Amino acid sequence: MTTFNALQNNVFHSMTDAQVRDIAGKHGTPVLVYSEDCLKRSADEALAFPNAFGLTVRYAMKAIPTAAVLQLFNRKGIHIDASSGYEVERAIIAGIAPEQIQLTSQELPENFAELVEKGVSFNACSLSQLEAFAQRFPGAECSVRLNPGIGSGHNNRTNVGGPASSFGIWFEYLPKVLEIAATNNVKITGIHTHIGSGSDPEVWVKAAHLALDLVRQIDTVHTLSLGGGYKVARIEGEKTADLQNIGGRVKELFVEFNEKHNRQIHLEVEPGSYLVTNAGTILSRIMDVIDTGDKGFNFIKINSGMTDILRVSLYGAQHPLKVVTREEKPASKTNYVVVGHCCESGDIITSQPGDPEGIKEVELETAAINDYLLIGGAGAYCASMASKNYNSFPESPEVMLMSNGDVKVIKQKQTLQQVLTNEVTNLFD
Ligand SMILES: Cc1ncc(COP(=O)(O)O)c(C=O)c1O
Repeated sequence: MTTFNALQNNVFHSMTDAQVRDIAGKHGTPVLVYSEDCLKRSADEALAFPNAFGLTVRYAMKAIPTAAVLQLFNRKGIHIDASSGYEVERAIIAGIAPEQIQLTSQELPENFAELVEKGVSFNACSLSQLEAFAQRFPGAECSVRLNPGIGSGHNNRTNVGGPASSFGIWFEYLPKVLEIAATNNVKITGIHTHIGSGSDPEVWVKAAHLALDLVRQIDTVHTLSLGGGYKVARIEGEKTADLQNIGGRVKELFVEFNEKHNRQIHLEVEPGSYLVTNAGTILSRIMDVIDTGDKGFNFIKINSGMTDILRVSLYGAQHPLKVVTREEKPASKTNYVVVGHCCESGDIITSQPGDPEGIKEVELETAAINDYLLIGGAGAYCASMASKNYNSFPESPEVMLMSNGDVKVIKQKQTLQQVLTNEVTNLFD
């Protein structure tokens, strides 16, 4: 089997300059472009995660919550991981069956009981959430999110396991979990651990080991979710998690567990990044090219930025960049710092790796006003996690580059009227 290459399954690399100019001309800029082919290929990879006794893949919809993306994955047989009551409702509105949605949220939605009654499965992420569920649904089944004591992530903001993380129930409180469940006759059928985003198989094996030890302690558990967090390389030098390697090692642990305890545990994984990261790119327009003198920098200013991609300002994330000239012209290169359109010095696209405050120069095709700038690796946590409407910029449209080459709008550009829609404008009348 050839190894899946996330850097190659990548709309940033596969889109031709002609396609860039065509999409910009027809749909305007900035626009998020997702590739149907790339989404489908990464779905197939995730569905091939090795497993011993069955697999459910849930898409962590926070990565791109747009209906067309949820529908594409759902048609492939992928279920949904929702991080809020609103995400659950959004998935239902997109046509996903409630039974295929699991709620795993930091905050207990006020309408959680209504969602559970519709068929949504509930993953208790704290003792108080478990208590609320157990009191409202005595005798019912749920899973619990446990913090197994270790985490993995490329920085502290993406590491969601271990003592410095507030996510999930600390593993030492398992007796309390059992007590709450017993008091209300609730059956714990699933254990869920999501420890962060990493690519090191050893960390996954260790986490699975710890998680299976938790499964051992609750004999009603039939499903173990290892969560998401399978890292995807955006630029050369970064490493993509090898699902076959990680899954193969984890599968062995499930087999051993069955041999020892005679329990065939169903596996769940819930990737976000893995499914969508390199299937998306931001197509922006260069609004200005300036410099700060001989000892300074050359800057490209684009009509996108933290209103479409916050990851750079937040984590110092690295994204590949490409200038596509408006018309064919002789190639030459210049070093640039690329910045966004917000009046905010943190609105930067080229930071030092892991250091949002450090600016970095990148060598790009020499740019002119009205050329285009593509930001790659912009599927996961870009449109969904951007600083919406800052400086009153409307949300950007999203399009899908279909397998047959057509480009379909999957989300319209927000209008100024929609930005203002909930404001009261007559307070002083
Ligand atoms: C509970 C849970 N599951 C899955 C994911 C998806 O993570 P990733 O996009 O790194 O795969 C997240 C991300 O924060 C999460 O919190």
